[in-house]
Amino acid sequence: MGKKIIVGITGASGVIYAQRLLHYLEESSEVEIVNLVITSAGATVIREELELKLSGVRESDAELLLGRATSKLKHFPVKDIGASIASGSYPVDAMVIIPCSVNTLGILAAGIVRDLVHRAADVTLKENRKLIVVPRETPLNRIHIENMLRLQQAGAIIIPAMPAFYHHPKTILDLVDHFVFRVMDHLGVTHSEDTAWQGRS
Ligand SMILES: Cc1cc2nc3c(=O)[nH]c(=O)nc-3n(C[C@H](O)[C@H](O)[C@H](O)COP(=O)(O)O)c2cc1C
Repeated sequence: MGKKIIVGITGASGVIYAQRLLHYLEESSEVEIVNLVITSAGATVIREELELKLSGVRESDAELLLGRATSKLKHFPVKDIGASIASGSYPVDAMVIIPCSVNTLGILAAGIVRDLVHRAADVTLKENRKLIVVPRETPLNRIHIENMLRLQQAGAIIIPAMPAFYHHPKTILDLVDHFVFRVMDHLGVTHSEDTAWQGRS
């Protein structure tokens, strides 16, 4: 059995990270199912940054985002609080919120559930499963930083959307993909690139 992963996209800048992650998860033979949830603000940012005509609620949004047909990606409307992924009884290996707005970060840190992204993340934590949160905001205020600490102490892995430059990226996609591969390292999904810094002597 392959991995079952939940991907949440919220209304922070950098939705291209999510798009590239979905591309690589779709391609991976280690991944069986990707359950996708997009907040309403997430859909707005996708329309803005990726110039896609995404509804935010249609099942076909997954294919629009991926740019091709898929049987692996399943898109759940964010208000569908009765979806399978809202229950701890549904087996999931990991969830990643990429990018994560400071709004969603704060809601999760407060233990509040208003939509399916919050519920699935809350369930992931309570079931002691891997939750990866990719916050994107700058500068950060004290509340943002405290919320990150709180979530990390509750078991989440915080991977701020901070791309690296030590691999000499030539294009924006090089920059994005290297970051996405670091997220995949934490998801436990194999990828093609060796992201480990080999040292310089
Ligand atoms: C184009 C655009 C870019 C945004 N970028 C960010 C961002 O980088 N980080 C952030 O926390 N919020 C950002 N926001 C604001 C969030 O979308 C807003 O706070 C929203 O309520 C988040 O809702 P959600 O957490 O349900 O997705 C952005 C909004 C827009 C329209």
